[in-house]
Amino acid sequence: MPLEPIGQATIKIDEHELACPIFRGSEGERAIDISKLRKETGTITYDPGFMNTGSCSSAITFIDGEKGILRYRGYDVADLAENCEFIEVAYLLTRGSLPTAEQKSRYSGLLNQHSMIHEDMREFFSHYPEHSHPMAILSAMVVSLSSFYPELGQNRHEDLDMTVTRLISKLRTIAAFSYKKSIGEPAVYPRHDFKYCENFLNMMFSSPVRKEPFTPVMVEATNKLLILHADHEQNCSASVVRAVGSSGANLYASISAGICALWGPLHGGANEHVIRMLVDIHARGTKVKEVIARAKDPRHPFRLMGFGHRVYKSYDPRARIAKELCQKVIAANNTHDPLLDIAQELEAEALADPYFQDRNLYPNVDFYTGLTYREMGIPTNMFTVMFAIGRLPGWIAQWLELKNDTETRIARPRQVYTGPNVRTVDPIENRED
Ligand code: SDX
Repeated sequence: MPLEPIGQATIKIDEHELACPIFRGSEGERAIDISKLRKETGTITYDPGFMNTGSCSSAITFIDGEKGILRYRGYDVADLAENCEFIEVAYLLTRGSLPTAEQKSRYSGLLNQHSMIHEDMREFFSHYPEHSHPMAILSAMVVSLSSFYPELGQNRHEDLDMTVTRLISKLRTIAAFSYKKSIGEPAVYPRHDFKYCENFLNMMFSSPVRKEPFTPVMVEATNKLLILHADHEQNCSASVVRAVGSSGANLYASISAGICALWGPLHGGANEHVIRMLVDIHARGTKVKEVIARAKDPRHPFRLMGFGHRVYKSYDPRARIAKELCQKVIAANNTHDPLLDIAQELEAEALADPYFQDRNLYPNVDFYTGLTYREMGIPTNMFTVMFAIGRLPGWIAQWLELKNDTETRIARPRQVYTGPNVRTVDPIENRED
């Protein structure tokens, strides 16, 4: 969306002086428009990891990293987690407003109507090896949807709302089917009488020999966890979805790429690595102080997983809610998880340590979510899949916004070249190793 300048900055390079407009967003953050920099001065900016670079203007999600604020379309994430179901937040992100009761009922019916996958797609699962990671299956299945619903790819008039609703519904089914495949149990089909999260939990845990596949606390926890993950402005995977969408690729291809980006341990894959870290600490009886010391040691590649964030330089508001939810689910099961004790000890130790304080390192969304998934019976290799199901509406909202933004250009960053200068080819007989 075109932005209105509120002032200007001057960049002086050699004899060039370039006046660059300064824009201000609706929450006061400011940005310098350098879109004429290279053309006017022959110079580019250099910002590895885009730590200081805005890729777009967006009206979807606002984060204040210093104050620990997260809002979707102006609503605070804690307010939404407390007062909405996940499908209301999916509606809010993809359509711009919370649904009325009638709109929610219609949306819920559509999600149910499109919750099945083509029977030929079900066949795909039987050809994956047992040990296949569900994130690999998820990404492959999503891009395969473009074969089963080709209308989107051919840009024929296909109601994009329908495509979006179909994808939000089917991702949950694909995820549950991949889990059933991994444990050798028969796939469980979605039911017309279950709502979004109940259907997911039923597809995950129902079986011919299991009486009660899920509890009301698990439904509440699933709704809240999916809401916590629903969007997070221009994070790594959302930026990938935008980059792929900017080339004109269809929604399924863009989301499939986003799933792959999320899989990385520094991003959504961290929730899986947090549990593996806690299990290892518990199994070896490693002292928490020793773990913290290792995380601080620059010579050691180990990082305290679930800690630190590119944007939050304060407590991730989602981590606060996830911690309370974790304690609630464990209490409801009337169990005790020693890994939660270790996690809370690690958090206390790190937050009191100058190394973490000086770098503003706090628990992020991934630190406590895995413990809750584990308590619900969701296996570790499905944790990032849970993240993806939650993040899907956010990715879609970012993709739709990009498509409707007149300022959108194909994403194609520049570089500073540091390779060899021009040289000519030697005949192969003259080349030396
Ligand atoms: C998500 O961007 C998003 O919005 C992502 C996300 C979303 O909702 O989409 O919020 C989801 O991805 C959460 C993050 C999950 N990842 C982890 O928990 C992995 C562990 N965290 C780190 O790897 C790290 O904090 C990152 C990747 C999250 C952020 O990395 P940055 O912003 O590039 O920061 P950095 O690596 O440059 O760290 C700055 C300093 C360094 O020390 P110095 O070189 O200054 O001495 O802090 C240190 C780092 O070594 N540091 C850590 C640390 N995280 C940063 N030291 C120990 N343990 C850590 N976890």
